[in-house]
Formats: sequence, C-alpha cells, structure tokens
Amino acid sequence: MILCIGNILSDQQLREVRTALDSGQFEDGRKTAGWHARLVKNNEQMQVSDDSAKALRASVEKSLTEHPLFQMAVRPAKMTPILFSRYRDGMTYGNHVDDPVMGRGAGRIRTDVSFTLFLDDPETYDGGELMTETSAGEQSYKLPAGSAVVYPSSTLHRVAPVTRGQRRVAIGWIQSTIRDPAQREVLFDLDTARRKLFEREGKTTEFDLLTKSLANLQRFWAEV
Ligand code: NI
Repeated sequence: MILCIGNILSDQQLREVRTALDSGQFEDGRKTAGWHARLVKNNEQMQVSDDSAKALRASVEKSLTEHPLFQMAVRPAKMTPILFSRYRDGMTYGNHVDDPVMGRGAGRIRTDVSFTLFLDDPETYDGGELMTETSAGEQSYKLPAGSAVVYPSSTLHRVAPVTRGQRRVAIGWIQSTIRDPAQREVLFDLDTARRKLFEREGKTTEFDLLTKSLANLQRFWAEV
C-alpha cells in the first residue's frame, strides 16, 4: 500500500523549515548511500548540527508521527532521524531500493516504511517526482508542500531529475510494529472501516467487535 497524507505541516512550519533550509549547510548525499545506490544518487543533504535545526527536525518528526493517518498506516516502533534533502540543477536519484537496516547501536532499525515529505510548492520546480515501481506499473508522486507519500521500503524507486528550481523534502525510515505490508494494510482497512462506522452510528456493538478484532490481530502480528 502506498499512501499520500495531506496537510502534515502547517504553513507556519513550512515557512520555518524553508527559512532554515535557505541558510543551512548542505553536503553531498552520497555520504549516506550504500555502495550501489551511490552510483545513481546525486543530491544534497542538510547538516543538522545546531540547536535550532535540531528543534525544527523534532517539530517535523512530531507532526508526522502524531498524524492519525500516519499512525494507522505505519504503526511506527522506531524511526531514523529525518533527513532534509535538496535536488537542484539536474540532480536526480536513479532506481534503487533503500537499505534494509539503518543506523548504529541502539538507533539501529529495520526499515519497513519509507516516506517523502514535500517542502516546496510543486509549481516552483520542474521534475523531482518520486517514481515507484510496483506490479501495477510505474507511479509518480509530486505532492503539495506539507504532504507526504508513505511506501513500503521494499519498493524500487527513483527521483526524476529536477530541471528548474529546487526540490526540498524531508525523508526518513520507520521500523513498524507490523513488519508485513499486507498485514499493515489489513489493519489499516479495518481501522478505517471501524472509524467510519463510529462516525455514522457511534459506539455500537459492531464497532466494539471490530475494535476487538483490530486489537487481537495486532496481538498476533505485532513485534514490540
Ligand atoms: Ni530511496
């Protein structure tokens, strides 16, 4: 399941993030790529070293992880620190699959879910679509600023070359309490149906049974 989630960041947050990125220090993105991804990766990543950049990153992480749709679709257990990436002047990231294990020591995670949170308005740059390859064919994502696409980390994907302006995004990886994307989708569908039923009819017996099933499926599947 690939899901687009709108309005994760407020206009105020977007302004603050863009201001920080405007004056931030960027380094070659190849530093954080595996040996084969390095061959096709050409972008830049902001160094998050001072306190204000760290606070900003924390605020973006909070808005994303507390979003109800993100919670329902991803069921996060652990997450890498968010990276701020920038593509300009023909920069691109060719086909690759993200590393299955990231981080060191206590911060080490298995990557189950990847996300790209768009920070610039799509009208301000050309190209820069996130392209995913699935059995349904190639899909293209270029979302409004403040919206994110969330996809299984097992997906082959690329970023189309940016031919005008700059594409800035926040990206990151999550270890889910539910490893299997198909199981995550079952829980997402059940949770969505349960909430719709609640909106229509309140806390009925049917709602309680769906809630019980949702909880008990998580007891079968969750790794904590
Ligand atoms: Ni990637």
